[in-house]
Order: sequence, then structure tokens, then C-alpha cells
Amino acid sequence: MTDRRPRPKRRTTSAGDPPGMAPRRAALRLTDAILRRGDPLDVAMHAAAQGLTGPDRAFAVAIASETLRWMVDIDALIDGATEQILPDDVKSRAVLRIALAQLLVLRTPGHAVVSTALPLVDGGPRRLVHALLSRAQQEEWQLPKRATLPLPTAERWAEQWGLPMVEAAEAAWSAPPPIDLSFAAEPNASEWPDAVSLAAHHLRLPRGQAVETMPGYAEGGWWVQDIAASLPARLLGAGDGRTILDLCAAPGGKTMQLAAAGWSVVAVDSSAKRLERLHANMARTGLSAAIAQGDIRHWEPEAAVDAVLLDAPCSATGIFRRHPDVLHRIEPRQIADMAALQAELLARAARWVKPGGMLIYATCSLERAEGEDQITAFLAGHAGWAVEPVRPDELPGGIAPDERGLVRTLPDRLSDVGGLDGFFIARLRAQPR
Ligand SMILES: C[S@@+](CC[C@H](N)C(=O)[O-])C[C@H]1O[C@@H](n2cnc3c(N)ncnc32)[C@H](O)[C@@H]1O
Repeated sequence: MTDRRPRPKRRTTSAGDPPGMAPRRAALRLTDAILRRGDPLDVAMHAAAQGLTGPDRAFAVAIASETLRWMVDIDALIDGATEQILPDDVKSRAVLRIALAQLLVLRTPGHAVVSTALPLVDGGPRRLVHALLSRAQQEEWQLPKRATLPLPTAERWAEQWGLPMVEAAEAAWSAPPPIDLSFAAEPNASEWPDAVSLAAHHLRLPRGQAVETMPGYAEGGWWVQDIAASLPARLLGAGDGRTILDLCAAPGGKTMQLAAAGWSVVAVDSSAKRLERLHANMARTGLSAAIAQGDIRHWEPEAAVDAVLLDAPCSATGIFRRHPDVLHRIEPRQIADMAALQAELLARAARWVKPGGMLIYATCSLERAEGEDQITAFLAGHAGWAVEPVRPDELPGGIAPDERGLVRTLPDRLSDVGGLDGFFIARLRAQPR
């Protein structure tokens, strides 16, 4: 039924919209692209947030991210308040999701949430949306303490790691994580009063600070890198001028670490766009590496090298805290496809290591198929290789290698100081011939 009551007069922009519509429209397009098309958030951003700048763009991303992080719990609130369950893909549910994320997570004032939600319903049930948002405010709806994982992820992780891991993962993704910085040289901790250090060349800052405004950004002495992502390069130690192939290198977090540790780095990646960021990172930090664009399924180095770091493309389920879109997009089929690609890349990378040399294989995934199982299969098919076990003293306190000397970071590790991303790292050595 059409709502024919006269509407109260609203302040509008020249286009007839109330103020603040642009980031909400973008957030709606973003969540739609992620949930219906399976686009990653950063890809969806280009189309969804075209023309948005600065704070509006950041607000659109914040709305979409918090909607995805809390979506299971927001849906439960919507379903508990409607007589008939709204289909999953109707506009009114999509609008309610982003409106409730603003109201309950971002704490946007109610009048701004309602006035910007109703125009988005587009001839749909405005009354229903209005009534639900009013109820949410009157009844002071609350979200649970921990954001519930999407069911397929919870089931998959429970099967692989057990229920306590799922609970730790829910605690970990209930808020955006702190900011980790990696430094080319040991930082002076007294210049960073808010920071804690969990390892050499590392500081952790509370979340919410704008990176560009932190001291020393322009000078390039540090870069943003989760402590887990910094482990693969740490396990190679000082380079002393030896040559390393940094495969799948862009945007260059590990390239910068390796260059700073004295390796002569050849960084390779297939993506021209991501390589632009690698070039910019090297320029900002004043570190150097030879950089090549190539698909390593076909690309070949000129000669064998002392070490290879393969940071393989993966499902990225380990970075779910900062990319809450991942858990709504990734399905078992993609994990299997990625595992097949990783096996191919690992087999090629292994051919380029000198006898006695080292190969690090890493993925930011919480799936065994992209970690432990990958290494078991590789070793079964490559007689000249063995695990070079990681020792506990090579890792920051609170992280320990498994019984094979492999590193697996799960969401319960370091949880008292802000946690870390989910990573898998294997250090392998080519046996001398
Ligand atoms: C996990 S990211 C790398 C992150 C990077 N190592 C860092 O520390 O900043 C994976 C990278 O693999 C690249 N990639 C994917 N498939 C590739 C292939 N077949 N050959 C080369 N690079 C590839 C992607 O473009 C992406 O930049």
C-alpha cells in the first residue's frame, strides 16, 4: 500500500536529496556489489564511490564495513521485528542493514539515519523501514558483544580448528584491529607514547588514527603492516647482500622488509596496478629493489637465487578483521581454486632456489587447504625439499610454531594486546645436491 500521508518538510540538497545522501547511496551500492556479485570491497569501491572524496568516502566504507561485520546480528534484529521475514535480497532489507549499522555501531544520530534511509527505499515499503528504525530507537536495540560469523564460515572453521577458535574469531572481528607499523630501523619508542612493541622493528598503535598524520610518514621510516604479515620476511633474517625473489610482491610490505634487512630483492607481481603502489612505497621509504611485472606461471628469473619468498594469492580469510567483506564472499569453490593455483606457483618457485637455499611459503588464509595441506602435498611430490623448522625464539612472544616447525597464527593469539591476522608460513630448505 502506498503511504499517502503528507511528508514533513526536509532540508534538501540541490539534487532534492537530504544532506549526507551520497555516502549512504555509495554504501548501499558497495554492500550490493559485495553480497550479490561477490566483488571484493576495494574493487567495488571504484564503481560505488565514484566522485566521493575524503570524509564522505571514508564514511561510505565505514558504513559498508560495519554492515558486513555485524550483518548476521543486524539481520536477526530485523527478522525479530517483522511479521513476515523479508527476503534476503530486497531493497528494504539492504537499506535497513546499512541504517542499523549507522545507528547501532557507528552511533550516527537517529534523525540523520532515518532521513537518509527513506529516500533509498525507492517506492518500496517506506513505512516498514520508518517503523523499524523508530522502534530500534525507542526500544534502544543493542547488538551482542561479539559479532556472529556467517554460518558457512563458522562451520568450516569449527571443523578445521574447533569451536574455541570460532569464538576467538568472533571476538576478534567485533571491532577493527589496531594499527601495526614496521620500521626499516629500530624506532625510538619514546617518540611513540601510545605504542607497544611486539617485536624488533615493530610498533602497535591504537586503531582510529590517520596514517598520513603519524610522525615520520613523509620521511618513510615505516609502513603499515600487521605483525602476522611481517613474520615471513623475519624468518629469513639478514640478507647480507644475497639475492631473493619476492614473488607476488605487491604492494610491497615484504619487499620493504627484505630490502631493509639487506637482501638484494627482485620483486615480481602480475598486477600493474598493484605494482604502482609497490613503486610508490619504495619511493616513499627510500628502499630499493628490482621490480618486474610478470605472471610467475610463465615468468622465469635469469638465474637461481639464494632464497625465494612466495606470498601466494589466497582466499584472504585471515584478514577478515580489516576486510569484513571476505567472509561473505569466499566459498569452498574459491578456496579449492586458490589452493590449486598456490600448488602451481609453489612448484615453480621451488625450481628457482639454489641447492641449500631457502623458500618461504605464506598465505593470509585461515584454511588448511591453503596452508598445512599445501605443504604436505608439496613435500610428498618434491623429494629434494624439507621443512626448516621455525624455532619458538624466532617468533614474537605468544606465537609458537606447530610440531612440524610451521607457523599458524589463529585469532586467539595475542588477543590480550589486539590480536593479529590469520597467517600460515612454512620455511623450506632445498637439500644440497
Ligand atoms: C597476498 S598479495 C601480496 C602481498 C605482498 N607480498 C605484500 O607483502 O605486500 C598476492 C599478490 O599476488 C599477485 N599475484 C596473483 N597471481 C599472480 C601470478 N600468477 N603471478 C604473479 N603475481 C600474482 C597479486 O597481484 C597480489 O599482489
